[in-house]
Amino acid sequence: MKAIVLKQLGGAENLELKDIPVPAIKDKEVLVRNHAISINPVDIFVRTNEGALNNILKPAAGEDIILGWDISGEVTAVGAQVTGFKPGDAVFGMVNFTGHGKAYAEYVAAPASHLALKPANTSHEAAAAATLAALTAWQALVTHAHIKKGDKVLIHAAAGGVGHYAVQIAKHFGAYVIGTSSAAKKEAVLRFGADQHIDYNSQTFEELVTDADIVLDSIDIPGHLDRSLAAVKDGGHLISIRVFFDDAQKQKAADRNIHIERMYVTSNGEQMQSIAALLASGELHSEVASVYAFEDIAKAHEQVSTGKTQGKVVVKI
Ligand SMILES: NC(=O)c1ccc[n+]([C@@H]2O[C@H](COP(=O)([O-])OP(=O)(O)OC[C@H]3O[C@@H](n4cnc5c(N)ncnc54)[C@H](OP(=O)(O)O)[C@@H]3O)[C@@H](O)[C@H]2O)c1
Repeated sequence: MKAIVLKQLGGAENLELKDIPVPAIKDKEVLVRNHAISINPVDIFVRTNEGALNNILKPAAGEDIILGWDISGEVTAVGAQVTGFKPGDAVFGMVNFTGHGKAYAEYVAAPASHLALKPANTSHEAAAAATLAALTAWQALVTHAHIKKGDKVLIHAAAGGVGHYAVQIAKHFGAYVIGTSSAAKKEAVLRFGADQHIDYNSQTFEELVTDADIVLDSIDIPGHLDRSLAAVKDGGHLISIRVFFDDAQKQKAADRNIHIERMYVTSNGEQMQSIAALLASGELHSEVASVYAFEDIAKAHEQVSTGKTQGKVVVKI
């Protein structure tokens, strides 16, 4: 089968199309003939950073490094202990995160517990998009912040991969949603369902929002997390998916009874089923910014590297 192998740490030119054997599956795994994958900022991080590669992808000594975690495709074989899926099923999910997902390949050995059935109304491209980014939004809002009807939710980078799913998921739970982006993406943020938009270039979000029940922060700018803390009401939730809290921020949050969490997304098939249900009902929609051919994966990486993507970048296999 064809796979994209990372020859060495560094630029996107190190992603090399190679012929390698189809992976063997274990008892609790299914073999997926992959139709589409999506690219995340973490793919670029592990491609370029040795610490990230070893802590997040964790390759075994000597094995080919195959990046990626987000897949959508068709089951071609199932392990002896798999009951939920059969050959022919269309499935999608975030496979083995953290760990060696090996998604940039024609066939992927995926734990059945990381997958859900792909809704019939959703293309493989749209399904592949709604995996790591959608799960992150789900886990931030539902698992960690316990979102409920009527909450005021501030979502940063609301036009990006995680953000555009977070806006839609928060609306599904009946929240009042405020999304930040540049002015150029205001229309998109409102189209995703936000009730209010803040242009981070011309407006100061913590002056406009001081009583959020939940803030989702994904921005790696000095001082940004402090500003998000100021936007949360006492007793609220501040979830960071990018920057870690320092001791002063932890103290400030404790003084105001604010629940803070620097979270990592984790593979979860049950939550993928919740995402599948929202895709099926039309409440969740993937904004696919670009679809690249498998051999053009370097271009997909370059686009995600800009940090300016509206929605998701997808690669067709
Ligand atoms: N901890 C975890 O488990 C986890 C999981 C997923 C992602 N992440 C991290 O979360 C971050 C976001 O991921 P993603 O996939 O959503 O990235 P992405 O799709 O590349 O985000 C792009 C978006 O960020 C927006 N943006 C850039 N600077 C901004 C600012 N100062 N304020 C508001 N919006 C801004 C851009 O909007 P404009 O063009 O309008 O600026 C663009 O739409 C990344 O750092 C990623 O590594 C962490």
